Parts: sequence; structure tokens; C-alpha cells
Amino acid sequence: MRISTMKKAGRSLLMAATMLAGLAPVAHTRGAQAADGHSAEMPRLVREDGRYALMVDGAPYLVLGAQANNSSNWPSVLPQVWPAVEQVQANTLFMPIAWQQIEATEGKFDFSFLDTLLAQAREHKKHLVLLWFGTWKNNGPSYAPNWVKLDNDRFPRVVGSKGVMRGSLSPLAPATLDADRKAFVAFMRHLKQADGQQHTVLMVQVENETGTYGAVRDFTPMAQKVFEGKVPDDLVKALKKQPGTWKDVFGKDADEFFHAYYIARFVDQVAAAGKAEYPIPMYVNAALRDPFKDQDPYSYSSGGPTWNVLDIWKAAAPSIDLIGPDIYDRGYDFYIKTLEQYKRPDNALFVAETGNDSVYARYVFATLGHQGIGFAPFGIDYTRYVNYPLGAAKIDAEALEPFTMNFKLLGSMNRELAALSLKGKVWGASEPTADHSNTLDLGPYKATISYGLPQFGDAKPTGNDKPCGGVVIAEMAPNEYLVAGYHARVDFAQTIKAGKNGFMIASVEEGHFENGKWVFERLWNGDQTDYGLNFTSIPQILKVRFATY
Ligand code: DGJ
Repeated sequence: MRISTMKKAGRSLLMAATMLAGLAPVAHTRGAQAADGHSAEMPRLVREDGRYALMVDGAPYLVLGAQANNSSNWPSVLPQVWPAVEQVQANTLFMPIAWQQIEATEGKFDFSFLDTLLAQAREHKKHLVLLWFGTWKNNGPSYAPNWVKLDNDRFPRVVGSKGVMRGSLSPLAPATLDADRKAFVAFMRHLKQADGQQHTVLMVQVENETGTYGAVRDFTPMAQKVFEGKVPDDLVKALKKQPGTWKDVFGKDADEFFHAYYIARFVDQVAAAGKAEYPIPMYVNAALRDPFKDQDPYSYSSGGPTWNVLDIWKAAAPSIDLIGPDIYDRGYDFYIKTLEQYKRPDNALFVAETGNDSVYARYVFATLGHQGIGFAPFGIDYTRYVNYPLGAAKIDAEALEPFTMNFKLLGSMNRELAALSLKGKVWGASEPTADHSNTLDLGPYKATISYGLPQFGDAKPTGNDKPCGGVVIAEMAPNEYLVAGYHARVDFAQTIKAGKNGFMIASVEEGHFENGKWVFERLWNGDQTDYGLNFTSIPQILKVRFATY
């Protein structure tokens, strides 16, 4: 029932204020710290009934991330990074650790940047996600040391079907795997020494946007020989196929699936060796394929973890905890479909990268609605580099404001949302563009979210000038929901008829969380509730209680 309808019926809907029971307190940002100020527990990914949480200091945690630009991984640049990270109120900085930077000379390691970064992250009270730019960085070895990328004999490149050598290194070369793995192991060993107590670093991304542009797979004689052999038993079993050659088993997809399998095996061996040193969660990110079309693999990074080869990656890379999409398409349908593709019972949804233009900001709400455990806009620093048209044409405080607003709101109830999400009790919606409302099925209730409505009165939603609306809803207890968001109106309806006359909103409290406890600020009533719950650009968290009468 719409609240406005009830008002017209002359009924007073809101009951007297009742201080409602809050969530059981959960550890706050540093809740499970050891007495010496260090975090007692390793970060880890947990799974419950096909849902996930990243455990940080022993409790579920949402990564509200900010990824620096590619070449910001130098001590001289960090002063331009932190102000932007602070500006967006991210809780985690994503930063590359480049192979060329730590092992410019083979066998000689330099972790001075990592040590500087760790020290500064702790001063800024931020977590880190470190990105291993090794054999693959957007398909090529640009971040590998010169002794790797200039030695094609020792570290062979992919050669396409027409004999053209591509930028990508072959995943089938044992020397490449050996060298990358050794460097990654040294990195993880150092990380354990430098951060094994404090756990500033939450996760490590292994390689960056693997795959190959311009060739579906490696066609060198070495690779061809493997391709003509049998599909390995582990993959045949995992995919429930009949044994045979790649062509027999996968037909027209054989080339791409072969490449995906061997890249995944390479990455898995690097990750497994790293985890043997220091077992924190490790993930890979994906340069995307069109989520709707069966595209030709020559038009994207073939062999990377695109949606059509996720089963292969899952089977071939068990040491990788999750596969996260890099979403640089502003379109609503593209974005939502991608979230659906990467949220799987065997894969935690984690938006590893997304554009930093304002229209991307609202998708954090849909990400939460798809049980996402993290969301990280890319290019968050003040180096003046802009990756338009993928992202914004200008990066300053004003441009970052939509991300700031969202991270401020969500960060203030981070632990509560992450804990409820693990229990399957979080829903979220982002403003669509083809129409101007969406609905969320909360079970006993349905929430209708409308965009572009005035705060007072009934009208047809027209959408915001630029799509910027989003809402998150979380069930704290039966009939009791947290509702928060921006630039949106939320109305509720009952889906199952209960009570003699129907249902009503018993109370709408505005408040906030402090150390895991709900702190009441005021009741909303009258104009503030008669025409739905209207969220503006002000961060507001409501606790809504339904009752029957
Ligand atoms: C995705 C890559 O993973 C990033 O490192 C960066 O190159 C962006 N694309 C584009 O700016």
C-alpha cells in the first residue's frame, strides 16, 4: 500500500517511537585488533550457502575501494594519491606492484616502494589491495622487467594463426612461469614479513587483465603440439565432458578455451606458490567481452576470464579466490548483466575496477544488491591523468563527489551491511535509464524505487538529470529494514496479505551506527513519509518497521 493513499484515507500511520532492538554489535573497522594495535586475524574469504564475505579483523567487510592510475606506484607520486583517496572516502587503496619495479635485475629484489606504501597506508588508516603487474598487464608484459620482455627466446610471445607475433607472452613457456612465480613468491615472502601481523593488505590481484589481443591463442609449434593433444583430465571431469582433443571436446571454441585453460593454469601456479608463503585472498580481474553477444575472440582479450570461460577458469585456477569484472561500460543493461554473470555460487562478486565518471558511482548500490563484496573506481588520484572516455574527463573533488557521497553513506554502516549481505539480507538498486523506477523483492514486501520525483506529491517519475540514484535495503530483523540511498523515492507494498486490514509503516527512524549500535536521531513522519521515503543528496539512514493492523 502506498503511504500517500493511506494519508488520503485520513489515517495516521506512524505509531509512537519505539526504540527498536539493533543489530547484534559487530566488530568495527579495527574491532578484532590485538592488544598491540595489530590485527589479530588474516583477511579471508568466507562462503555461506553460496554467498560471500571478505573477513577483515574477523568480521565481514565491504571493500569501498579506489584504484590509483597505472603509473602512480612510485614514492614520488603518493602525495598526489592520498588526497584523492581521502576525498572519495575509500577504505582501501588499490595499487600496482610492478615486476619491473621489484626485480629490475634478475634475482635482486627491491621492495622499498611496497614498504613506503605500507607505512603511508597505515598513517592514513587505509587498507590496501596490491595488484601484481607481471606477465600480463592488459594482455602484454609491459610491466615485466626488460630482461623478460626483451628476450623473446627465453620468454616467447604468442604467435597468431597467421604467424604474426603478438605482444602477449605465451602461457605455455615454462621459463616465463618460473620467472614470474619466483618474483611473486619473493613479493609474498616480503609481504608476510612486512604485513603478516598488521594485515593492512586485504587481497592481492594476480596479474592484470590476462588474455591476448589479436590472436585467439598461441600457434607456435610448442603450443600447437599441446593443442593437438588431449584435454587434461581435470578439465574434462570438471566440465563433465567426454575425453578427447581440444577440437573434439570444444569444437569451434577449442582455440579460446585452450588459451583460457593454460593462462588460468599459469596464474594458478603463480598464486599457489605465493599463497604457500603468505595465504591471503587472491583474485584476478577481467577485461570484459560483450555480456549479451557471442563476440569473436579477436575483438577482446582472448583467454582472459571473460564470462564464457568462467567455468574453465574456475576448474583450472583453484588457488584464485574470485574473478572480478572491470566494468567500463556506462550502460545500465551492460552493467547489470555483468554483475549477474560474475555473481555465482562459486564466485564472489567484486567489481575490481570501474569507471570514475559520475554515472558509474550509482552502480555501487546494484553491486551490493548482487551480494557484492567490493567496488573500486579506477583512476583515483590527482596526477591529472584522465582515462576519458572510459572515465571522467576531469578528476577533482567535484568530479569525485558522487563516489564520495556513496562511500560516506555505505562506509558508515560497512560492517552491518557486509554481515547482513552474507546472510542474504541485502538488496540494492541503481537508477536505470530506459525507465525511471525499479522494484526489489524483499520477500514479504516489495520496494519500488522511483527516480526524479519531487519530495512531495504524486507524479510520474522522470529520472534524474544524470542517472545518479541508488538505494540499499537491509533486513535487520523480521519486519525491520535499513533503507538508505540518494536521489530516489522508496515505496513499500506487502506481497503476502497479513493482518486484518493490511500493513502499515509503524515507524521510520533516522539514525546512524556507532560501534555496531544503532543510534536514534529522529522520527520521520507527516510530509517526510506521506509520499514515500525520499532520499536527496544528504546521507541518511532510515530504520523502517512494518506492522499489521
Ligand atoms: C583496465 C586495466 O586493468 C587498468 O590497469 C587500466 O589500464 C584501465 N583498463 C584503463 O585505464
